[in-house]
Amino acid sequence: MAALIAPSILSADFANLERDLGRIADADYAHVDVMDNHFVPNLTLGLPIFERLAKVSPIPLDAHLMIENPDRWAPAFAEAGAASVTFHAEAAQAPVRLARELRKLGSRAGVALRPATPVEPYLDLLAEVDMILVMTVEPGFGGQSFIEGTLPKIRRAREAVSESGLDVWIQVDGGVSRETIERAADAGANVFVAGSAVYGAEDIPAEIATLRALASKHTH
Ligand code: DX5
Ligand code: ZN
Repeated sequence: MAALIAPSILSADFANLERDLGRIADADYAHVDVMDNHFVPNLTLGLPIFERLAKVSPIPLDAHLMIENPDRWAPAFAEAGAASVTFHAEAAQAPVRLARELRKLGSRAGVALRPATPVEPYLDLLAEVDMILVMTVEPGFGGQSFIEGTLPKIRRAREAVSESGLDVWIQVDGGVSRETIERAADAGANVFVAGSAVYGAEDIPAEIATLRALASKHTH
């Protein structure tokens, strides 16, 4: 399985988002962190900006919705052209209904788990989603350090996906860098979000290539 790199524009220059999307044109997805200051104690951007990003981005958008009431708001991100929409398990009222709605709108559907949220309740529902996002930091901010204790959850998720025979992706987000990406890949992740590691790099395309190469050594 190829390792997919999704730089997070949370670490981009918010006054130059189009320019900074151009800088990650070699990546597989642009990860867009939507925060509402309720589900997480931070506020980023909403639908009107996302709609514009979808129009100007050279690569597909991966929306990560850290918001309350995703049942109400997530479908609009699919309608805006997101290639993938991920909502939080802790916030969704009816995750299966919402995932089905997102897929019907032509988007991939992802379910995200905070570090302390168990993956087990979702393992029987793998057929309903395209991706599980195992948060490797507490959501809300870039630049935090990778929580090693999330690795067993990634491993259990990968084992269940393999057993199921389904093509469900496993994404990691938070503290992903040259130092941590190999352990995440070895545990079974195949989609890697990196904000500060990519946008903080001197040579962004080279950093994306390095992260992809390191992860690819371990993705099976
Ligand atoms: C955190 C966000 C991440 C964030 C990752 O809540 O979901 O996508 O941008 O940033 P880094 O890679 O700097 O940890
Ligand atoms: Zn994110």
